[in-house]
Amino acid sequence: DKRLKQVMLEAHQFAANLYQYVLKETPYGAEALKYLTRRGMSAETLTEFQIGFAPDSWDFLTQFLAKRDFSLDVMVEAGLLAKSDSGKIFDRFRGRVMFPIQDSQGNVIGFGGRLLETTQAKSQPKYLNSPESPLFNKSATLFNLHRARPNIRKKKQALLFEGYVDVVSTWQAGFPLGIATLGTALTEQQARIIRRNVDSIVLCYDGDAAGQEATSKAIHILQQADLKVRVAPLPQGTDPDDYIRQHGAEAFSQQVLLQAMPITAFRLKHLRSQYVINDEMDKAGLIAKALEIINELDSPVERDMYQRQLAEEYSLSLNDLKWESKRVYRQQ
Ligand code: UTP
Ligand code: MN
Ligand code: MN
Ligand code: MN
Ligand code: MN
Repeated sequence: DKRLKQVMLEAHQFAANLYQYVLKETPYGAEALKYLTRRGMSAETLTEFQIGFAPDSWDFLTQFLAKRDFSLDVMVEAGLLAKSDSGKIFDRFRGRVMFPIQDSQGNVIGFGGRLLETTQAKSQPKYLNSPESPLFNKSATLFNLHRARPNIRKKKQALLFEGYVDVVSTWQAGFPLGIATLGTALTEQQARIIRRNVDSIVLCYDGDAAGQEATSKAIHILQQADLKVRVAPLPQGTDPDDYIRQHGAEAFSQQVLLQAMPITAFRLKHLRSQYVINDEMDKAGLIAKALEIINELDSPVERDMYQRQLAEEYSLSLNDLKWESKRVYRQQ
């Protein structure tokens, strides 16, 4: 109910403040602060995003919450603390850099916690996110939407990333239009929320196989929500944060954002990356698949444009390709 949610909100803001204090003002945060600084985050950025550190302790937050008379069982339900099978209550987040997740009004409703590289244990996930709670509905929340929304509306543009760090890093570099999902695949609900603010979006997922797969899935969901989608190309093995640190903000703007492809171009590129061509049969198969993708376009002008590109790329006569396209279309 309402009173319970209010208490949970207060506890989240309290925890966010405490974690920030630990990071900036205490020796327990020194290593994390060094880590974040080495990753290029400025003091201003840390403050803007309320980034903090949860010390590597079983009862640091637990003790503080108890002293403040928060019911510890409610804190477990809120996801800030956890409970063992034997009923012992302890800090859920230990030894992690804390990224607060806010709702559309700016209230902290959860956290993403990243292990320090130095303490990274194999048995632990790199990122630990708050569980679902009465406050935190992952499938209806987008990281940083609250902060980026005025910019997104003004620029009529949004950037969708995979990671918290990508959002923070691009924001710091001068692109305050970034939002991200919360360690889960993009949902229809999130797509509808985006659509309420803007009608076109640039997908900017990591340049690896997982990122490509996630991009294909996200395209579908975003299009269903009636969003115009383009896909920004990132070099293999790089994510937006890596890219900015290696090449700078100007290159990110020119080489990544301004090169964002319409989805047909992305799908054709993805298709080529999946096919190994050993002989003419493979090549014919690839071309048939490519024509299927092109046939899905509503505009005959666009279809013609992509067909010409394909003909040129594989040294085929445009006439033959158009015949083949009709044959493929009848089978589609
Ligand atoms: P990445 O592994 O690409 O993280 O996961 P990243 O943002 O590049 O992080 P750094 O640069 O290594 O610090 C992207 C997103 O997937 C989710 C998180 O939401 C993360 O931001 N994720 C990743 C998890 O939920 N758990 C994990 O163990 C890893
Ligand atoms: Mn990744
Ligand atoms: Mn695929
Ligand atoms: Mn990444
Ligand atoms: Mn990264």
